[in-house]
Amino acid sequence: MSQKDSSDDNVQFEQTLRPHLLKDYIGQEEVKKNLCIFIDATKKREESLEHILIHGPPGLGKTTLAHIVAREMGVNIKVTSGPALEKQGDIASIITNLRDKDILFIDEIHRLKPVVEEVLYSAMEDYCLDLIIGKGPAARTMRLKLPRFTLIGATTKMSMLSSPLRDRFGSLIHLNFYDADSIREIIERSAKILDCKIDGNAAAVLAKCSRQTPRIANRLLRRVRDFADYYGKTVIDTGIVETALKALGVDELGLDNVDREILNTIILKFKGGPVGLNTIAASISEEENTVEDIYEPFLLKLGFLERTPRGRQVTSRAYEHMGLKCNF
Ligand SMILES: Nc1ncnc2c1ncn2[C@@H]1O[C@H](COP(=O)(O)OP(=O)(O)OP(=O)(O)O)[C@@H](O)[C@H]1O
Ligand SMILES: [Mg+2]
Repeated sequence: MSQKDSSDDNVQFEQTLRPHLLKDYIGQEEVKKNLCIFIDATKKREESLEHILIHGPPGLGKTTLAHIVAREMGVNIKVTSGPALEKQGDIASIITNLRDKDILFIDEIHRLKPVVEEVLYSAMEDYCLDLIIGKGPAARTMRLKLPRFTLIGATTKMSMLSSPLRDRFGSLIHLNFYDADSIREIIERSAKILDCKIDGNAAAVLAKCSRQTPRIANRLLRRVRDFADYYGKTVIDTGIVETALKALGVDELGLDNVDREILNTIILKFKGGPVGLNTIAASISEEENTVEDIYEPFLLKLGFLERTPRGRQVTSRAYEHMGLKCNF
């Protein structure tokens, strides 16, 4: 099972399982509490929400949360992404078509082109657009008033956001990896929606192997359901979960074949590091971005990998997990 699998089938599956209200969004208690106050107070004042920046590793629920905010506010949401906005005109036409209080969601906001980002500065701060009309000496600027919209930006890479853009968000939300109980709850909720039965122990075992990430939990559940159907089981039990995980190459910490290949490569080919990200990616024939965005965050979180100025280095815990002898 590939973690970067983004087929149409998967997209549709994710949408089916996506919670629509804050009360159905499991875990992240602190985030929910603050958002609830923020939304409630704004609604009472009949204002538009301040701009929100949501950051955190892939699959933790950023897009889901943006849609929930729109629904809780009772406003429309227009969805786009950093790389999709090529020119100033692209963003200008989207914003001018919004209504007061509407939400503009920009996914992967760290990938905005500088020319587009510049337009956003005045749009976010003063709710106006400065357009240049005409060319050469005859060119003049025109200031266009915009609706009081709310920008919600999502990013997996906070460090790549320019500080002028970051500073224009009134609220920063950081999503952390989920605890095992929350993931178990997510699995049980998803099982209900998918109309499959899973026993409590099986859900707990599956939760432990889900890399503390809802998207992975849901994907694993779907795979395990296939195994249960294949073996003619009406209830998913720990036996089926273990059989499925083994067949998928997922270990008890949730690491898959690519994670283990990354660790093995650093340990066996590069003496444990430090080694550059591009060298690791080339050695395992993956793209650098995929290693950095998809695999690395959880290996860092587990304390198996460390970032040093000279590259990535594995820790003694990683050696232990891989059953290899560590010389330091
Ligand atoms: N708190 C949650 N409760 C229940 N389900 C969740 C929660 N967070 C995420 N999910 C589920 O996980 C899936 C992935 O979430 P989402 O697409 O929002 O992640 P993301 O952070 O936007 O990922 P990416 O960085 O790849 O865009 C969703 O389909 C949703 O069903
Ligand atoms: Mg998303």
